[in-house]
Amino acid sequence: MEIINQQPDTKIYLGDCRDILKEIPDNSVDLIITSPPYADQRKSTYGGIETNKYVEWFIPISEELLRVLKPTGTFILNIKEKVVNGERSTYVMELILKMRSQGWLWTEEFIWHKKNSYPGKWPNRFRDAWERILQFNKNKHFNMYQEAVMIPTGDWAKNRLKNLSEADKRRENSKVLSGFGKNISNWIGRDKAYPTNVLHLATECNNKKHSAAFPESLPEWFIKLFTIEGDIVLDPFMGSGTTNIVAARLNRNSIGIEIMPEYYSLVKERFNSIIESNNQTHNESRSHRQSNTICKREYSFIPREPNKENGNFKTT
Ligand SMILES: C[S@@+](CC[C@H](N)C(=O)[O-])C[C@H]1O[C@@H](n2cnc3c(N)ncnc32)[C@H](O)[C@@H]1O
Repeated sequence: MEIINQQPDTKIYLGDCRDILKEIPDNSVDLIITSPPYADQRKSTYGGIETNKYVEWFIPISEELLRVLKPTGTFILNIKEKVVNGERSTYVMELILKMRSQGWLWTEEFIWHKKNSYPGKWPNRFRDAWERILQFNKNKHFNMYQEAVMIPTGDWAKNRLKNLSEADKRRENSKVLSGFGKNISNWIGRDKAYPTNVLHLATECNNKKHSAAFPESLPEWFIKLFTIEGDIVLDPFMGSGTTNIVAARLNRNSIGIEIMPEYYSLVKERFNSIIESNNQTHNESRSHRQSNTICKREYSFIPREPNKENGNFKTT
């Protein structure tokens, strides 16, 4: 294990997560976000587990993940079944059922719409432009910071709220008796709304050194939604380290595990260049501040403000 970044801490391990997860203490991680190798895919780069062995392979890993996750934590799993002999494989569904019997709650399914998918032609289907993002929890009550991912209300609100009917001004309960209801007029004067469970994100095209890297926006969205500064994020299939890089940028501690030495080294390289460029920016701004101190007294110290989220002090 190597600590490659401090404050926030980033710990990375080279090895098989089936072994290394055993070193992580019980109930210690706030968010697990990962994309494991999918069944029968990318055999030439990092193996590829056979479809009919996938559940058997993954279940000991999810057992460890269940152990290391805090009771208030969340596990986000990006996975998608492919087509085999003209049929969608069912291994992801089988995995969900098995994980439920292991003790996980299957809380939610997000859709990652890959908005930059290029077109194609297949005889019996269209371009597959989405992936599953499964959310699992240990408890019904878990940490979720919904305000952190609010989006501008946009044109919907402008048009919809212009001419409200009488019905729009009352709370209308769901006709299917779900217990949910809506009052459209509540949105007057608000410029932000909650997003849906469909994420429209482009796939990563710039990371030429890893064939299946997350776009940074994907772990970023879930890290903001399920953690606060100082929390611990784990990616047991770290790849090129996107989760850890984003976690560090957002002041979250993180742990990454990768089996392939070349990807492990790639993560170290990426962190080193980030640390170097941060040091350079820091030195530049320090020399800028020093030159300002000579002529302007108010620039002679670095103000420290309490961090609103966790009460710790952070240098601004
Ligand atoms: C889909 S990629 C993850 C990509 C990552 N999300 C990123 O942004 O770069 C899966 C990674 O898991 C690694 N891997 C496969 N089996 C593993 C195992 N048993 N333990 C740890 N890592 C493993 C592969 O080498 C690969 O880099």
